[in-house]
Amino acid sequence: MRFQDKVAIVTGSGKGIGKAIVQKMALEGALVTVTDLNKQTCEETAMEINQSGGKAIAVEGDVSKSEDVRRIVEETIEAYGKIDILVNNAGIVKDIRLEDMEEDDWDKVIDVCLKGAFLCAKYVSPYMNEQKYGKIINISSRAYLGNPGQANYSSAKAGIIGLTRSLAKELGKNNINVNAVAPGLIETDAVRNHPKYEKIKELQKKDTPIKRIGLPDDVANAVLFFASDDAAYISGDILHVTGGRFG
Ligand SMILES: NC(=O)c1ccc[n+]([C@@H]2O[C@H](COP(=O)([O-])OP(=O)(O)OC[C@H]3O[C@@H](n4cnc5c(N)ncnc54)[C@H](O)[C@@H]3O)[C@@H](O)[C@H]2O)c1
Repeated sequence: MRFQDKVAIVTGSGKGIGKAIVQKMALEGALVTVTDLNKQTCEETAMEINQSGGKAIAVEGDVSKSEDVRRIVEETIEAYGKIDILVNNAGIVKDIRLEDMEEDDWDKVIDVCLKGAFLCAKYVSPYMNEQKYGKIINISSRAYLGNPGQANYSSAKAGIIGLTRSLAKELGKNNINVNAVAPGLIETDAVRNHPKYEKIKELQKKDTPIKRIGLPDDVANAVLFFASDDAAYISGDILHVTGGRFG
């Protein structure tokens, strides 16, 4: 029970990797805020946690909008009185070659994946500063190393690394650890809905030292490590959850 009475906000936690994170944290005693753009999955995930004996509230919201982020933070404080852990997990892809990438394809991905993490950290950090305790975990991606067709996403995920290192330096004096997790290919809807899913999965197995596709729980385990006091002296770091694949 590493998170007994700790309060955690996990963005984009209605499904996929975020859902695995809130479920595992709740199992270890955390009081969680499930927040997502999708009201239905957000409420379902919170209900599942409450029905299995955990404690969760659902707050619908868009991380790229500051008024929504402020409301997510306020409702968490109203429900639990503090915030100990923030996981910036919400993310989207809009993969397209540079010549066909419209300004909007660029803006949307940067807004959700990068600006969203900045806004959540900005509005959560005053509470963490005040209590001199906090853990911020940002979900990057192996794609921060660069991928064709992902100029928007790779840039956002590389930006997440810069954000992580800057915030680690800025907030460390208040006992706030800021780290990033960079997953490789993980089996979620985001990947399953891809038209070339089966081919991608086979290629992934071939190119990855650990011969399988990653699972949401693989990423959640890394996030829970950073969120726990086992990682109390680790900050500004990146944990790759890629099965050993870097290229
Ligand atoms: N699946 C992978 O292979 C993989 C690999 C590396 C990194 N990641 C990253 O992990 C994170 C989770 O990915 P996933 O595969 O679980 O995706 P997913 O699509 O299964 O889930 C993402 C969730 O984020 C929510 N969301 C989208 N836009 C939002 C917004 N503006 N505000 C709030 N919520 C929003 C969605 O509604 C959804 O519930 C993302 O940041 C993604 O970039 C995923």
